[in-house]
Amino acid sequence: MRLGEVFLGKNKKMSDNSKIWIVDFGSQYTLLITRKSRDLGYSCKIVTPKTAKGLIQRGDLPNALVLSGGPASVFEDKQDYSFLFKNPEIPILGICFGMHVIGQHFKGVVEKGVIGEYGPVKIHMVNNFGIEGCPPESNVWMSHSDHIIEAPLGFEVIMRTGNKIIGGILHQNLPIMGIQFHPEVEHTHYGKFFLKHFFENVAKVSQDWDSTKMLVQSEKLVQKVGNSYVLCAFSGGVDSLVAATLTQRIIGDRLHCFFVDNGLLRPQDLQHIKTLSRGTLNIEIIDAREQFYSACEGILDPESKRKAIGRTFIDVFEQKIIDFQKEYQIEFEYLLQGTLYPDVIESLSPHGKKGGSETIKSHHNVGGLPERMKLKLLEPLKFLFKDEVRVMGEELGLKQKWIWRHPFPGPGIGVRVLGELNRSSIKKVQESDQILFEELNHFSLYNSTWQAFTVFLPVKTVGVKGDSRSYENVICLRMVNSTDGMTAEWSDMPHSFLKKVSNRITNEVEGITRVVYDITSKPPGTIEWE
Ligand code: XMP
Repeated sequence: MRLGEVFLGKNKKMSDNSKIWIVDFGSQYTLLITRKSRDLGYSCKIVTPKTAKGLIQRGDLPNALVLSGGPASVFEDKQDYSFLFKNPEIPILGICFGMHVIGQHFKGVVEKGVIGEYGPVKIHMVNNFGIEGCPPESNVWMSHSDHIIEAPLGFEVIMRTGNKIIGGILHQNLPIMGIQFHPEVEHTHYGKFFLKHFFENVAKVSQDWDSTKMLVQSEKLVQKVGNSYVLCAFSGGVDSLVAATLTQRIIGDRLHCFFVDNGLLRPQDLQHIKTLSRGTLNIEIIDAREQFYSACEGILDPESKRKAIGRTFIDVFEQKIIDFQKEYQIEFEYLLQGTLYPDVIESLSPHGKKGGSETIKSHHNVGGLPERMKLKLLEPLKFLFKDEVRVMGEELGLKQKWIWRHPFPGPGIGVRVLGELNRSSIKKVQESDQILFEELNHFSLYNSTWQAFTVFLPVKTVGVKGDSRSYENVICLRMVNSTDGMTAEWSDMPHSFLKKVSNRITNEVEGITRVVYDITSKPPGTIEWE
């Protein structure tokens, strides 16, 4: 299934008037084209080639088309894409595979790549071609072996790589441009200027996307609930906080947030929820610590532990809903979730697999519950990226420190105490985590890392405490930098900070003699240890 199909099911649209269509040929980067285009102020929607064909044939024409890259080669994909070129006034930007589609249609010569150019490549402008903001030579990211070796009739070559491969083509009369590399990825240093050039100078479309539009779009989704009661499995993370704040603003006290205290939280998490509940949000804290502890008793296997935590969460939550509805004589019709655009996309990835975030959301929230309790889903952030949610949070007046909180997994400390969970090891993680965060703040390093936590390792190592030998456990520090949690690099933190944290943990946390720092990136490691 391709990305676009997410939006093309029954009445699902990115935005009612997004007239730039990203035709998705299955590239792993399609989402980034949308992201970059929005950054430039252009709203757009992802469509499959099939849908684009249907719409164009019905006369519903876009203002511009961006043809994405794709895993296939034009020599394997024999579909007829000529419908894309039926209306010569529609501006088209072809990226990688999209450029080859243009090349084939206009009878240029596309060569099947044997070695190809992958990864970073230098590109330079030719024929005095210039792109505002972009130097004549720059680094770009290639990820395809096919390439055009002879520009189609009517096109001029505007860029070439060091190996003389055609890097870009532009039609002399029609608004059609092709680029062999990926302007949407960060590794293409001036990527946004290539896209900007297309939108401004080739397609000449006007900007129509800003944070106001974002807010209006999300508000419309909430307004659809009418007078219904809405329930939220509140986690305190930025997504659920923004979703709940927005919803509360529109439907007021018909939104009820329940926060489940599973006993696997750090002290600051509960504090955070208490602060929020003293504000405008209608949050009730459910103390279910004992239920979680007994559900996890004796479980060593990480997956079984996660499942036990997930199941207990649903049980607690479901019981709460039943009791609450009975007590207040109301019926919840919707379940509010902070699902984001990448979650929606990943759940229907081009490879048909459920992606990481999907797993995360279902764990974190209440997978299975909506069907069982016959709840409809309310997902007002489903068209947004994480950083857009943060912008919306700012517009809603939420504090910076809430908006920029590190992610914290649903199973919490449960996946940070390796092996069997018990109160003593949970306490060790809570205490060492507290020290880590105190020092992150003290050294003003909180924002230099994307996620930071401590892990309890149930191994014993020899140490010296006072005058005698000790034989105690190990705490591992984990700090990573990432943009979305899908890949991550370990954070290179200052030694003075690490030294202080280590000293404090070995001195202040009972039963810990050794502190280690995890220097594994993802992949191959995951961020969490279990
Ligand atoms: P991993 O360990 O898979 O984590 O590299 C990637 C990101 O997801 C978070 N994570 C979870 N979040 N429920 C959640 O809500 C989970 O079961 C879960 N497992 C991992 C992790 O903290 C990191 O930010």
